[in-house]
Amino acid sequence: MKRRKVSIIGAGAVGATVAQHLAQKDAADIILLDVREGMSQGKGLDMLQASPVYGFNGIIEGTSDYALTSNSDVIVITAGIARKPGMSRKDLLSTNIKIMKDVITKAIEYSPEAIIIVISNPVDILTHTAYKVSGLPRNRIIGMSGTLDSIRLQSFIAQAVGVSASDVVVMVIGAHGKDNMLPLMRLANVKGIPIQELLDESTIERLEKRTREAGAEIVSLLKIGSAFYAPGAITAEMVEAILKDKKRVFSCAVFLNGEYGINDCTLAVPVVLGKEGIERILEINLTEEERMRLHAAAEDVKKTIDTIEL
Ligand SMILES: NC(=O)c1ccc[n+]([C@@H]2O[C@H](COP(=O)([O-])OP(=O)(O)OC[C@H]3O[C@@H](n4cnc5c(N)ncnc54)[C@H](O)[C@@H]3O)[C@@H](O)[C@H]2O)c1
Repeated sequence: MKRRKVSIIGAGAVGATVAQHLAQKDAADIILLDVREGMSQGKGLDMLQASPVYGFNGIIEGTSDYALTSNSDVIVITAGIARKPGMSRKDLLSTNIKIMKDVITKAIEYSPEAIIIVISNPVDILTHTAYKVSGLPRNRIIGMSGTLDSIRLQSFIAQAVGVSASDVVVMVIGAHGKDNMLPLMRLANVKGIPIQELLDESTIERLEKRTREAGAEIVSLLKIGSAFYAPGAITAEMVEAILKDKKRVFSCAVFLNGEYGINDCTLAVPVVLGKEGIERILEINLTEEERMRLHAAAEDVKKTIDTIEL
């Protein structure tokens, strides 16, 4: 069987971590592309030399030439500048929009059939930008956002209850940012047992707050750069779900066209990931308060979208 191909645009902390996880899963051939000459080649070579340990049987190569990304099945975009302490996601906006327009155009020129996963921040806005600029159907432009927020909450609940994180199920939707994220705490459970039966109200509130602030907590500790282990790990799971047509359910940013009563805006909602990318948007019933908060998040994202030229 022909090996699949995944290109990662931006071979920084997150990009390299995605590549490492994919190599460890032997999921596909991997191209790491970066504007920083030599850096992607160095990381690619280093990872290739771990093949005997990873059980990896394919190609890992770094480059700054898009021709090497030709005919990728999946393209992961992490290119951009990362958040520094005191910097909001919106501060990154103008630079990262320019980068996204350039990257998406070149990437799909060489891989017209690829499914695109956007990671660069602000991710809701940049997923929206990628969708509009590429002209691709929305199922092929997927934002990694609620995906990460969800595994963060999952880990916090697992720690608080004292159970395996694999047995915790959560869904965090909305925009990828402290105020507009919507952790659906009423749905969180441990193997079907509502967390409300296992944790008191103040603990649940504390875990929700920590999830909202999880990105900033890491930025303030790292001092330089932002989170990359968890973002890299979960992105590799998304890639694998697409390559293996797993129909897994994640919370991903997607262009909404009337779902949840929201139009012309990109936000994280529950989706099914398979060989076509986003194969279905799962529209669930929200409480009135949740619906209001999701719409407020959409309004906020739209305000930013309205300021950019697409
Ligand atoms: N969506 C999420 O949940 C999430 C999580 C973590 C990080 N992020 C975002 O992902 C992005 C990457 O984070 P990181 O920690 O890997 O940053 P990083 O600085 O380590 O890596 C970014 C890389 O992009 C490269 N780059 C810049 N412009 C480029 C271009 N035009 N073409 C190709 N490569 C280019 C840089 O040279 C750099 O190596 C940031 O925007 C960050 O905020 C998002």
